[in-house]
Formats: sequence, C-alpha cells, structure tokens
Amino acid sequence: MIHWQDKTRFHIGSTAFRCYDWVFGSQPSTAQEYFLQKDAAMVRDYLELVQRLKPRQIVELGIWQGGSCVFFNELCRPQKMVAMELSTEPVPALEHYLCHSAHGHSLSTFYGIDQADNTALTGIISAEFGNTPLDLVVDDASHFVAETRSSFNVLFPRLRPGGAYVIEDWAWAHDPVDDPQGAVDLYPDKEPLSRLVFEFILAAGSTQGIIQHIEVDRHRVTAYRGDAEIPQADFDISQLCLKRGKAMLAQHPPGGA
Ligand SMILES: C[S@@+](CC[C@H](N)C(=O)[O-])C[C@H]1O[C@@H](n2cnc3c(N)ncnc32)[C@H](O)[C@@H]1O
Repeated sequence: MIHWQDKTRFHIGSTAFRCYDWVFGSQPSTAQEYFLQKDAAMVRDYLELVQRLKPRQIVELGIWQGGSCVFFNELCRPQKMVAMELSTEPVPALEHYLCHSAHGHSLSTFYGIDQADNTALTGIISAEFGNTPLDLVVDDASHFVAETRSSFNVLFPRLRPGGAYVIEDWAWAHDPVDDPQGAVDLYPDKEPLSRLVFEFILAAGSTQGIIQHIEVDRHRVTAYRGDAEIPQADFDISQLCLKRGKAMLAQHPPGGA
C-alpha cells in the first residue's frame, strides 16, 4: 500500500510523498511530490491506525502544504474527506490534485476557517456529511488549548462509536526538541496543550461511554469515542469531571505559570 523509496520518500499508487525530517525541513508541495509535515515514524503509525479503523468519513484540521490531505485521501480512499485551514490561500499543488487526480473528488478543502469558529465548523460538517457520523478526525492545526478544545467539542460528538480523534503535537510545551535542557521555550505565553490531554483522562474516568479509550505517544493523543448518546449542542470536554478533577485543573488555571 505504501512503497518506501528511501527514509523520507514514498509512493501510494502513483502519488509521491516526502516526509518531514530535521535535515530537509519543511518544503512546498508540488504536483509531483506532496510534502507532509510528519516524519516517517508518524506515517507508519497512521498506516497502522487506518488499517484498524478503515475510515470512510474523515475530517482534517490544518492543511499547510496539503500533503497530509492527499496522504489520507490516497491511503484511506474515503467516501468523503473534508480539510479546513485558517490561511485563505489555497495550496496550488493541492488544487492540482483535486482537479486532476482519480480520487480528488472525495476531498473538499475549506480555507479561511478558524478551527475555533464553531458556527463555521458546524455548517461545513452538516453540509458535507449530513447525519453520517465521522470515523476519523485529525487535528494538526493551531495546537493551542482554546482553539483545539473548541473544535474537539464540535467534532467529537459527531464521531461514530469507536471513531478516533487524533490531536498531533500535544506535547510541544514539554518536548526538548534539540535541546535536552528545555531552554527552547516554545510559546511561553501560551498554555500547554497537555491541559486538554488531562481533560480527556479526567472525562474518561468521570463519565461512561463518552471517551472509551485514550492512546498517547510523544507525537499524538488519540481519543476513541464510546457508545453513549452525546448531545451535540453545548458539549464541553472541560466540564466532564467531578469535583476532585475540577480541583486538580484549578490548581493549574489557564494562563497560570
Ligand atoms: C502543522 S501545519 C499542518 C500540517 C499538515 N497537516 C501536514 O501534516 O502536512 C498547521 C496548519 O494549521 C493551520 N492553522 C493554524 N491555526 C489554525 C486555526 N486556528 N484554525 C485552522 N487552521 C489553523 C496553519 O495555518 C498550518 O497550515
């Protein structure tokens, strides 16, 4: 399914991809080679996830160079995939893919969409999927707490039971990157995204059938939806814990040092 050419380059069918690596860095996609802001290990992890999940309805937040949209669309051959992005500038290589590839018809892109804009997200999801539940959501957009939680609150209840919600790079505030002393302090004024991971854990412990299972590694956290009825209006993951959980979260208030 994935044919590796070397450590960073691979094909799916006739579509060529290049992964991120520390030497090569981030590059524009071209119609000949789509760039993914994911390293080779993450690509292998996604292959394992989609083989298990077999997603037919997919949402991705954060398009960047479009490589991950093309990757999921080619790898999963979904019935429908929707990708959203804050930037208003369409990615030329991705537009080329949409018009010229045999499978481009299943992918729809939306630019100028802030993942924190609940009204926009709800409108797009309703128009594109109707009442069909989602199988997989991949959030690789802002990586900030309020924005990431906001789209989680809209999209997680729309997953089917057993569906997966992936948030990439949750550990940016704790990752030594290339500095084991941790002196590279990314976004010092921003709350670490790990707060949301703790909210998932507390919700899994305090409720039944909402978050059924959580997987965490250093690149991503994946929350699997349980089989409870989840009202779509006013769902708020940060409120789904009992008083001791709330007390724990209150010890580290948003914006706290
Ligand atoms: C890490 S890149 C995405 C990489 C891409 N998924 C891949 O794997 O190749 C993050 C993208 O999210 C977009 N973004 C940042 N904040 C956002 C927000 N609030 N809403 C939607 N997209 C956002 C950025 O403009 C950027 O294109």
